[in-house]
Amino acid sequence: MNKNYKTAIGMMSGTSMDGIDAAIVRIDDDFNFELVNTHTLQYPDDVRKKLLQLANNNANTSDICFMDFVVGKLFAKCANGLVEKSGLNKDDVDFIATHGQTVFHIPQVIEMGGIATGSTLQIGNISVIAQETGIKTIGDFRSRDIAAGGQGAPLVPFADELIFKRNIPRVIQNIGGIGNVTVLSPKCDTFAFDTGAGNMLIDSVVNRFFNLPYDKNGEIAKQGKVDEKWLTELLKEPYYSKLPPKSTGRELYNEEYVQNFLKTAPENKYDVVATITALTAKTIADAYKNFVLPKTDIKEIVIGGGGAYNPVLLNFLKEYTGGMEIKTHKDFGIDDKFKEAIAFAMLGYCTIKNIPNNLPNCTGAEKKVVMGVISMGNIG
Ligand SMILES: Nc1ncnc2c1ncn2[C@@H]1O[C@H](COP(=O)(O)OP(=O)(O)O)[C@@H](O)[C@H]1O
Ligand SMILES: [Mg+2]
Repeated sequence: MNKNYKTAIGMMSGTSMDGIDAAIVRIDDDFNFELVNTHTLQYPDDVRKKLLQLANNNANTSDICFMDFVVGKLFAKCANGLVEKSGLNKDDVDFIATHGQTVFHIPQVIEMGGIATGSTLQIGNISVIAQETGIKTIGDFRSRDIAAGGQGAPLVPFADELIFKRNIPRVIQNIGGIGNVTVLSPKCDTFAFDTGAGNMLIDSVVNRFFNLPYDKNGEIAKQGKVDEKWLTELLKEPYYSKLPPKSTGRELYNEEYVQNFLKTAPENKYDVVATITALTAKTIADAYKNFVLPKTDIKEIVIGGGGAYNPVLLNFLKEYTGGMEIKTHKDFGIDDKFKEAIAFAMLGYCTIKNIPNNLPNCTGAEKKVVMGVISMGNIG
């Protein structure tokens, strides 16, 4: 760390919609960083339920309007909680960088009125966060990349490159609601894409059959066995064979999708969870085989996100990759749940310094742009 550093709060809530992860980070002008503290705020049940309705295209315009402010207040509450817990006050924090909560993401170009464009919507209003925390707040990162012809995703590879460098061939595999991989290697340019569902489908079937929010430590999957025939069926989803750059979300893996595939599911509910867990691992392993290994070998996989806590999932991944070395962010001194929050702090750092922070090779954008919109902190 050199003397020229900023203290930032990065905040993230992904497609799992489990809650908000926040990290206070010091970042210097060489992008060295120091993690000061972290905090998580679970979404209240009714908020999560409404967000899922929004993401399933199953709510009204008035819900979007209202929830933008509700979620903004929750993000602010999370940031304020983190500042207090860290024994700091708001003046010690230079800025907040928030991903917000994606409620819809349409990276593919659609036409209307002679206009052709992709689109994306993250709620959690940044003016509300700036007002409630008194801290300058940066958000709405994805829009600028889409405006520049990109997919608006993935954005985290920018930080992965800074954190892990490219000295040995490795893949950084996030397993949140969706699975996202960043390929870092001296043998090729950095590239990244979504591998498919991460925990999202696991959460969905566990919720449906066991009335639990997720399969804690893979306890349920552990008790079932993989239905190979059904797994083969599930792998026919066309997304998996699409060439990168590509990204996906709840727009694909929605309620209807789950209801459809359950029609051919095995009867034993434990087998359903085991097979869906295997599906996540298999789609990741296949993505490496089809899209990564033709460009570079892989010395190690570094897992992050909540999926890092599911040993059954990681065992399947080991098996399907033919025994590749699997590490987690923890092995690099970074809490598995907070790398993305740290990444957004880094992206926000770039916004205030006017440094381009998208990777066109990862998002498909026509050029480098400075992503992020700023809402100023309170006066006085
Ligand atoms: N102890 C655990 N065992 C198994 N899965 C877990 C555990 N903790 C978290 N998860 C999974 O991780 C998900 C949250 O991961 P996260 O990285 O926050 O994803 P997102 O970025 O989509 O919010 C949960 O929904 C759950 O499926
Ligand atoms: Mg989360």
